[in-house]
Amino acid sequence: MTQNESYVVTIDGPGGSGKGSLALRLARHLGFHLLDSGAIYRLAALKALREDADLNDEKSVVDSLSDFNIRFEEGDELSIPYLDDEDVSSQIRLESTADAASVIAVYPGVRLRLLDRQRQCFQSPGLVADGRDMGTVVFPKARIKFFLYASPEVRAQRRHKQLISMGISVNIAQLESEISERDQRDRDRSESPLVPSSDALVVDSSLLDLDQVTELMISHIEEVIQ
Ligand code: DC
Repeated sequence: MTQNESYVVTIDGPGGSGKGSLALRLARHLGFHLLDSGAIYRLAALKALREDADLNDEKSVVDSLSDFNIRFEEGDELSIPYLDDEDVSSQIRLESTADAASVIAVYPGVRLRLLDRQRQCFQSPGLVADGRDMGTVVFPKARIKFFLYASPEVRAQRRHKQLISMGISVNIAQLESEISERDQRDRDRSESPLVPSSDALVVDSSLLDLDQVTELMISHIEEVIQ
């Protein structure tokens, strides 16, 4: 790998574990760039759906990504994802897109197609990268690695709150079962499964609020960097 990975902080974990909010907070605190790798998988899923790819067929999905034109624009709060020059912020947050992303993420050809795009996000002075395989595959030499865990019930409640705040109404029980199904798919896949890197600090955020987890992560970073 060509990039200097000394200043990559990776945060892996299942959906709803708080990775996204924590990555944003840490990136701001450290003055680092941010990579939401889940957004890249969601954009790939959206592209595949728009190209009418057969999601059950790896080749069909990989072919649909041959012309994968995405970019992120820094907004006030979050970065805005564009697919073929269209702002797709709300579409990529739909549960149907998340499901499709989890389905196509099992394909080695898709993961390979998205690998360089993720690594290109590394820029000086550093990067906070969140996802499922940031510490294990995309940035294996990252200096600081976290793996965030939270119980499925807590994660369903968090995701429910997040979706409601975006004006998307969903049934919490259904959300919990969809989350569990996606977790299982993410964990059981043979390519880049959702597992903590052996050198990651595992944090259970079920009983902690965002401020408490942020504090814990920052003190770990300060310890490592000193
Ligand atoms: O974090 P998220 O919910 O936005 O991710 C959506 C899906 O993308 C998730 O179910 C699995 C996949 N994904 C992945 O396989 N590897 C990543 N690094 C990030 C996301």
